[in-house]
Formats: sequence, C-alpha cells, structure tokens
Amino acid sequence: MNIAIDGPAGAGKSTIAKLVAKEMGSVYVDTGAMYRAMALRMLNLGVNTEDTAAITEASKDADISIRYVDGEQRVILDGKDVSEEIRTNEVSGLASVVAAVPAVREKLVALQQKLARETAVVMDGRDIGTTVLPDAELKIYLTASQKERARRRFVQNAEKGLPEVPMDYLIGEIAERDRRDMTRSVSPLRKAEDAVLLDSSEMTIEEVVSAILKLAEAV
Ligand code: DC
Repeated sequence: MNIAIDGPAGAGKSTIAKLVAKEMGSVYVDTGAMYRAMALRMLNLGVNTEDTAAITEASKDADISIRYVDGEQRVILDGKDVSEEIRTNEVSGLASVVAAVPAVREKLVALQQKLARETAVVMDGRDIGTTVLPDAELKIYLTASQKERARRRFVQNAEKGLPEVPMDYLIGEIAERDRRDMTRSVSPLRKAEDAVLLDSSEMTIEEVVSAILKLAEAV
C-alpha cells in the first residue's frame, strides 16, 4: 500500500509521514529533500537561478539518489551525503525556485515513481497525490494555518538555538513559499480530488498520525 501526503511547507508532513511509515512497516520517502539537493547543486555550481535554461542544463547530469541508514533517509548528491547541508534557509528558498523548472521535476518524479514501485512507501511532497502516485491507495492533504506554521518554525528555531527571527518575517517567508509552490505552472501544490483534507492547526502530532492510520485501515 502506498500513502501520499501532500501539503504546504511547515504543516508537519515529514514528522507525521515518518511516524505513519514506522507504524505501517513502509519506507518513508521525503521528496522535498530531492528538490533541496538539486537546489544545492545549483548553489555549488554557481548557476544563475533566475535563468531557467541554465537550471535545466545543470540538472541534466545531476546524480541524486537516496539511501537508508538505520532506517533514516539520506540524500546523496553527486556521490556526497548532503542530508544536513540541504536544511539551510538559503537552500529552502532556492528549492522552491528549482522545483518550478519542468526538467527538474521530470527527473525527480521518475526517481520517486521508481522507489514506489520497488517497495510500499509513505511519500510526502507537493504533487504526490496529483502527479507522482495518482493511484496511491490513500492520499492525505495535510495543512495548517500560516500563523500556526510560522509559530512551529519559531519554536523549532529556539530549540535548535538559532538566532531569533521575528514571527512576522517567518509568516512572510511561509507565504512566499506557498505562493511559489501553489502558482507554478507545472504540478502546483493542490489537493488531489480524492485526497482527505486534514488541518493540523489544532491537532497534536499523535492525533494526526492516528487519524491517518485509521484511514489506512479502512482502505
Ligand atoms: O518539503 P520541503 O520544504 O523539503 O520541500 C522543498 C521545496 O521543494 C518546496 O519549496 C517545494 C518543493 N517540492 C516540490 O515542488 N514537490 C515535491 N514533491 C516536494 C517538494
């Protein structure tokens, strides 16, 4: 059984998808990490990221793969494990830019579909239910208000000991990524018609996980 979990940045997809995968004995696939790795490649190569043709060209021979170490997904870019390096703010912003480029999507969607053919997956992203796995047995669209998503990021930053970023700024960043992800012409973020909408603004992680497991049982 394959489960697709889509939704905007900061809705809790990865935390929840990981827990659901564990409970179901499936493999968790974080597709955002692949777009992040592609963005990092552009940074490393000094590609002008306002130039779609340059991104297309530089994406062609990108070697992106994933590997599992102790059950954790690791992302390998051109032979190097970049799982930590792709988590910076700079890479986050750029990932939504490169993710709008058709050639990038074609390449990464093919890789994602191959993974889902090989094993049962819980896959999270933006277009999993609509494009990558249109036949997934269960599709979830997980969202939360922009304010709540910003609040969670604020708390996470504090926990990581990162310098404090004002809430207004975080809300602005989230709104900008939502706008880019939802308005791009290829595979924009949207709820698949047959996806179940879950708004986690006022739900705990456990509540969301158990709602999804219940839905999976009923499939
Ligand atoms: O989920 P994330 O924040 O790690 O994703 C990084 C960026 O990649 C995000 O701005 C949207 C894009 N993305 C996408 O377009 N399609 C996916 N399936 C996953 C992520």
